[in-house]
Amino acid sequence: MARRESLHGQWSSRMAFVLAATGAAVGLGNIWKFPYMTGENGGGAFVIIYLACVLAIGLPIFMAEALLGRRGRRNPINTMKLLSEEEAGGGWWQLVGWMGVLAGVLILSYYSVIAGWTFFYAWDTAAGVFTDATKAVVNTEFDDLMASWPWLLALHTIFIGLTVFVVARGVEQGLEAAVKYLMPALFILLLVLVGYAMSTEHFADAMGYMFKPDFSQVTGGTILAAMGQAFFSLSLGMGAIMAYGAYLPDDSSIGETSLTVVFADTSVALLAGLAIFPIVLQHGLNPGAGPELIFKTLPLAFGSMPGGQVFGTLFFVLLIFAAWSSSIGLIEPACARLVENHNMSRRKAAMLVGAVVWVIGIGSVLSFNVFSGEEYQFMAGTWFDNMDYLTSNIMLPLGGLLIALFAGWVMCKSSTVEELEMGTGFRYNVWSFLIRFLAPIALVIVFLNATGLLGKLG
Ligand code: TRP
Repeated sequence: MARRESLHGQWSSRMAFVLAATGAAVGLGNIWKFPYMTGENGGGAFVIIYLACVLAIGLPIFMAEALLGRRGRRNPINTMKLLSEEEAGGGWWQLVGWMGVLAGVLILSYYSVIAGWTFFYAWDTAAGVFTDATKAVVNTEFDDLMASWPWLLALHTIFIGLTVFVVARGVEQGLEAAVKYLMPALFILLLVLVGYAMSTEHFADAMGYMFKPDFSQVTGGTILAAMGQAFFSLSLGMGAIMAYGAYLPDDSSIGETSLTVVFADTSVALLAGLAIFPIVLQHGLNPGAGPELIFKTLPLAFGSMPGGQVFGTLFFVLLIFAAWSSSIGLIEPACARLVENHNMSRRKAAMLVGAVVWVIGIGSVLSFNVFSGEEYQFMAGTWFDNMDYLTSNIMLPLGGLLIALFAGWVMCKSSTVEELEMGTGFRYNVWSFLIRFLAPIALVIVFLNATGLLGKLG
């Protein structure tokens, strides 16, 4: 088949795709969310289930998204439309793309608020606020920030502005240039933090906490949370990897590329856990503290380690960059759609989507102060909690399920074989089994189980 060209240009090499996809994958999800989800869900069992989900469901779906993206070479909505025409699927498959565009916008609306906290922490650490700080000082600092919605709103605004700025500049100069140096730097700094954590007395206990599973505590909700986290962290289920795959050169191996990104993403999450839990245990903090976990633990570590002011500042600055490169991926599907179908300039598209995201984000800003009370909570909790639950636990896994079904059942074998370029032997068969049977069945069971429907049916 003659290869299509993308309207937005291409990555300059396979490595550029790896970096950009890693940039999308590695973000607040690994360093902020993974540790607190692990803490909220009881430690080891969550980690093991998470790892199983990453390997058996995440990796094959990652490959599926990349292959769909490269084959269609358009934004996720148009790619799904085009491929379903080609493969004789129904027109409604493009809804997968629409849901993805929406999920990206909703995720960024609260992601940006958390990224805003990171700005504040970079500033505070540089100013020496945390040097030799006690637990009480660190707690008050966080609680004061949460109480001030104007601050949170200002920081949210700055972050959206930064995202719009890079997306407006386009694929090569914008996205690619931003991630090349920052990801490796973040990785190295994380190693420094783990090194510090190893020097505390509680490293062994933290290892036990993270890797000794206690399956007796596991519920349907735990498994759904682990699966949702796998999708969130790998940026799956919403067409982002499809959008990035659209810029992937023809001769890059999708299998190897996907494996590299998945491996990098998972390593960063595990390292973040190893850096944080020794500190949690050392200071007798609550691992289940929720979204505040890293902001109440890391300052304590930086405050008491030699050179902590410098390392700490650097760490939070790099975390901003990690969040930044993810936020780009979150609005890229929406922007690419506006550019392709509504004849908009990239700049205009980025500004329009940014404005929508900013408005929705106000709900999350207020979730930590004005509307934090019980009387304002509904379903999963505050507005912020609901945005997170709706996207991670519902939209992404559902998107992933549909993508697996499309790649496994709607597409002809010859199309997937051609795009994956790994022959029809063992590796292809494993992928095909996972994508056709294991991933869809596991996703459906976990869904039904967590929502209690399975009990009612059975
Ligand atoms: N993976 C990102 C993180 O861990 C968050 C994310 C979810 C994302 N879906 C995405 C990023 C799509 C880019 C594109 O922080």
